[in-house]
Amino acid sequence: MEELRNRNAILTGASRGLGVHLARALAREGVNLALAARSSGALEEVRDEVIALGVDALSCRTDLTEKGEVENLADAAERRLGPIDILVNNAGVQLSAPFQDYPPERVERAVRVNLLAPMLLTRAVLPGMVRRGRGQVVNMSSLAGKIGLPFSAPYGATKAGLIMFTHCLRAELEDTGVGASVICPGFVAEDGMYARTREEVGPAPKLLSPTTPRRVTRAVLRAIRHDVAEQLVNPIPPRPLSVLREIIPGSTPWLHRTLGSTRFVRTLARGA
Ligand SMILES: NC(=O)c1ccc[n+]([C@@H]2O[C@H](COP(=O)([O-])OP(=O)(O)OC[C@H]3O[C@@H](n4cnc5c(N)ncnc54)[C@H](OP(=O)(O)O)[C@@H]3O)[C@@H](O)[C@H]2O)c1
Repeated sequence: MEELRNRNAILTGASRGLGVHLARALAREGVNLALAARSSGALEEVRDEVIALGVDALSCRTDLTEKGEVENLADAAERRLGPIDILVNNAGVQLSAPFQDYPPERVERAVRVNLLAPMLLTRAVLPGMVRRGRGQVVNMSSLAGKIGLPFSAPYGATKAGLIMFTHCLRAELEDTGVGASVICPGFVAEDGMYARTREEVGPAPKLLSPTTPRRVTRAVLRAIRHDVAEQLVNPIPPRPLSVLREIIPGSTPWLHRTLGSTRFVRTLARGA
């Protein structure tokens, strides 16, 4: 989808962190936006900011753990903006803790927000996209979905699910004009869930040293324009790490011990 001007998009997780950077970047390209999250005040501020950039936008207070609300979001967006061309499933939740200490409701919330809601939202907008022969679904996963992370099992599992969901969709949608992409950032500095904890836990391990919101938004725009299947966003190319896990599945504990991520995420887990 080379031309983004006057396209219509749904963006989840638009109230803070990477979602705000994505909203601004899409608006600068002329994309009209349905912005979703639970924090209506923050969402309205983002809406006003992007309207000032010259696009149409609405804020949709949505709790993605509620099935009905996912469908309501798609309806409200289409009613106001018209046909949806772009869906960016960006909202996500993360908690670092030993798995046996995870409250069951936090496990369920991670599955609902990180995996189930993107699937249901995709399902809501896909028929229209396929009918029109045009559309792009972009799923915000994580490097944690490629290489896993200790003390983050629900997060890693849901983000890995999102990666495979995207690849299944791509195969299924071939020749329909509708694409699906997945973005896998490593730790992101400056803003977002990792940046908020950085002062307490210190710098991330060297090979996983942080990327920036700008690089992540660039990857998202590239995915929309060129239907790029999968992009890993990390200063040091991390694909060899995920290939290693594919070739030698038993290497995961060694890999994280060697990278320093076991120690790092354990510190995060203690702070949680
Ligand atoms: N930052 C990183 O280092 C990093 C690295 C890799 C991948 N990612 C991924 O990038 C995405 C954005 O992360 P971020 O760092 O920007 O996170 P963030 O700052 O914590 O923002 C998360 C967003 O998701 C929304 N959200 C959470 N629970 C929700 C719910 N039940 N219903 C609706 N919206 C909900 C939040 O809005 P409300 O609280 O207002 O609902 C917020 O807008 C996530 O998918 C994350 O996994 C981030």
